[in-house]
Amino acid sequence: MTDHYAVFGNPVAQSKSPMIHGRFAALSGQDMAYDKIEAPLGGFADAVQRFRDAGGKGCNVTAPFKIDAFAIAGTATDDARLAGSANTLRFSDGAIEAHNSDGIGLTRDIQDNLHTPLAGKRILMLGAGGAVRGVLLPFLQAQPDELSLLNRTPDKAAALAEMMADYGMVTLCDPVECGGFDIVINGTSSSLTGSCPALPRGVFDGCALAYDLTYGKGLTPFLAAARDAGVPHVADGVGMLVEQAAESFRWWRGITPATGDLIADMTVPLV
Ligand code: ATR
Repeated sequence: MTDHYAVFGNPVAQSKSPMIHGRFAALSGQDMAYDKIEAPLGGFADAVQRFRDAGGKGCNVTAPFKIDAFAIAGTATDDARLAGSANTLRFSDGAIEAHNSDGIGLTRDIQDNLHTPLAGKRILMLGAGGAVRGVLLPFLQAQPDELSLLNRTPDKAAALAEMMADYGMVTLCDPVECGGFDIVINGTSSSLTGSCPALPRGVFDGCALAYDLTYGKGLTPFLAAARDAGVPHVADGVGMLVEQAAESFRWWRGITPATGDLIADMTVPLV
């Protein structure tokens, strides 16, 4: 019998999730259907209820419903709880469980696909919005030497660092001058507007990898700045996109699908 899944968003037409999960299902021989559902603003919970009533097994959730998704769940993984948002729901025995696979997807992309271990490294994360909050836990679990935050609005970075205190030390980066990071990650939404966050002097000194969570935009201003500064390896978020989907798939189906060919197919050259 075919198991039904879907991605909920508004808008949702742009979502690549049906294509990605369709590839995973074909690769792993899973009998699944996966649709796009545009829920009305303010109507997410009702739309999910209808999908469950029709036999849906689980869903992905994209903007603007990730916080609503967390709110309607009865239980949540630590990743979803600390993110305060969910991009994956699982329906079982009348219950809704929430997960957030973004951080696991990002750390897997960096460690497994880009061959850059996080343990013992110094990492700078730019931004302190929902995207950054959603990924911090797996970074701390990977035991870096330092995980530092820098945000345009410093109070938000300080609040996030405090929120994570039970899980590990998150430091705050000096906005004027800091360096010595092995990995610098742009977790701001700057690349969506074609801008670059203000960068401290020397931020890329000694940096081995610059990573932008945005995908499909080619060489973003942040990645261009990293390349100009001599960073040997720059990457956008296409691998994170595929890996977070693979983590959702694993959580639903108990199978971790292969991701390499799909990442290669979806990669937009960084020029
Ligand atoms: P998202 O879900 O993408 O994280 P968000 O929660 O609205 O969206 O957060 C956007 C983040 O990008 C914030 O950290 C924001 O900085 P502020 O907290 O100061 O608003 C950051 N951001 C967006 N555009 C930026 C820019 N041009 N330069 C620097 N930071 C930017």
